[in-house]
Amino acid sequence: MSGINYSEKIPNNVNLSEDRTLQRALEHWQPNYLQWWNDMGPDGSQDFDVYLRTAVSVDPQGWAQFGHVKMPDYRWGIFLNPAEQDRKIHFGDHMGEAAWQDVPGEHRANLRRIIVTQGDTEPASVEQQRHLGLTAPSQYDLRNLFQVNVEEGRHLWAMVYLLHKYFGKDGREEAEGLLERNSGNADNPRILQAFNEKTPDWLSFFMFTYFTDRDGKFQLCALAESAFDPLARTTKFMLTEEAHHMFVGESGVSRTIQRTVDVMNQLKTDDVGKLRAAGVIDLPTIQRYINFHFSVTIDLFGADQSSNAATFYSSGLKGRYEEGKRTDDHVLKGNSYKILAVEDGKLVEKEVPMLNALNEVLRDDYITDSKGGIDRWNRVIEKAGIQFKLTAPHKAFHRNIGTLSGAKITPDGRVVSEAEWNAKVGEWLPSNEDRAYVGSLMGRCVEPGKFANWIAPPVMGINRQPVDFDYVRFN
Ligand SMILES: [Fe+2]
Ligand SMILES: [Fe+2]
Repeated sequence: MSGINYSEKIPNNVNLSEDRTLQRALEHWQPNYLQWWNDMGPDGSQDFDVYLRTAVSVDPQGWAQFGHVKMPDYRWGIFLNPAEQDRKIHFGDHMGEAAWQDVPGEHRANLRRIIVTQGDTEPASVEQQRHLGLTAPSQYDLRNLFQVNVEEGRHLWAMVYLLHKYFGKDGREEAEGLLERNSGNADNPRILQAFNEKTPDWLSFFMFTYFTDRDGKFQLCALAESAFDPLARTTKFMLTEEAHHMFVGESGVSRTIQRTVDVMNQLKTDDVGKLRAAGVIDLPTIQRYINFHFSVTIDLFGADQSSNAATFYSSGLKGRYEEGKRTDDHVLKGNSYKILAVEDGKLVEKEVPMLNALNEVLRDDYITDSKGGIDRWNRVIEKAGIQFKLTAPHKAFHRNIGTLSGAKITPDGRVVSEAEWNAKVGEWLPSNEDRAYVGSLMGRCVEPGKFANWIAPPVMGINRQPVDFDYVRFN
């Protein structure tokens, strides 16, 4: 069951050939997907041979095979983790009952919405990143970008499989819609705002894959607990791919910092003007990028109080992060949780029913996890002997959803006036000038083993290949 059948038009480990109707429906969607990839996928890359990994099995061992492939020929397909025998629902009102192998009528609309919302983010990020290949800082980085892109494409396949198999005609229409909406399109945008923002430069890309792909990890972890077993199994396999995306982000930012501190030491300066003249990204600018991506990403978890979140949990559609490792009753009725609000010009904590605050619970778990990388970035700075500390901004900073939406709160958590906010926002969020400067550094650097001036080489290559390996053949 865990082996993947590559002899079929659509690689899969779900015995697709035994369900002719489904197979035909997906084969009908496949050319539309490829058309979308050609129109909206990585710009000008159709003929490149890219050193990519492809899943050969869903087992933890022998997951991937590496080789040069043209991206339009990538074997996108449908891979689910093996079924767990007699799996039981382990939270919410149906706890202890058998997991669902089909969609219960009463949860159909909510499950469809959850799957479509998740599915919409996958092609959105490919669209957001489509021009980055033109300014890659190295072949190694270009290959990583393309790996992330093809895997986000596969994540779309994963959600489309669920829509086609379990949601009939509406599911097929939703699958078409996933190719019709486009990131940033004025008439038909992607569903979530963070996926309509631009990813204009490589520092943004690394921040996105560190922070926003990590939101993906937490959403997928919550869905991997679902009572709807096919959703749980497909998201479990998606998570194995997600880990590499966050690695690309964390190591990308880390290498950017490495290069900056090296130049700071060479020039013996922390003067922003001098560092910019030397062509590296000063640490205060990196801090502002962190502030932006962190705040925009934590909005993705939704309103801090949400009756939908309560319904999704109680009905078993979506669990908490690591639900199985928690020691409470997994029903949560009568439990409470603290959320933040602004009262009389101050941030205060308010106790609310935990079921309604489950978006906040997931956001807080995310925040804890995302701070780990910031600590590791600080070690690079420390090791270079430089006095500077990067920090995650306060959870209430620059929020656009829920109770804190629009509140004027500094990165260290002080409520300030509109006037103070306007006067200081340039110190807290990337200014147009910062973005223009970072943009000015972006140029194509793709000779094997060469790296753009603003970023240090990685310590190791991909799949134990040397750093100067030909990761991309341009033909
Ligand atoms: Fe994804
Ligand atoms: Fe991802």
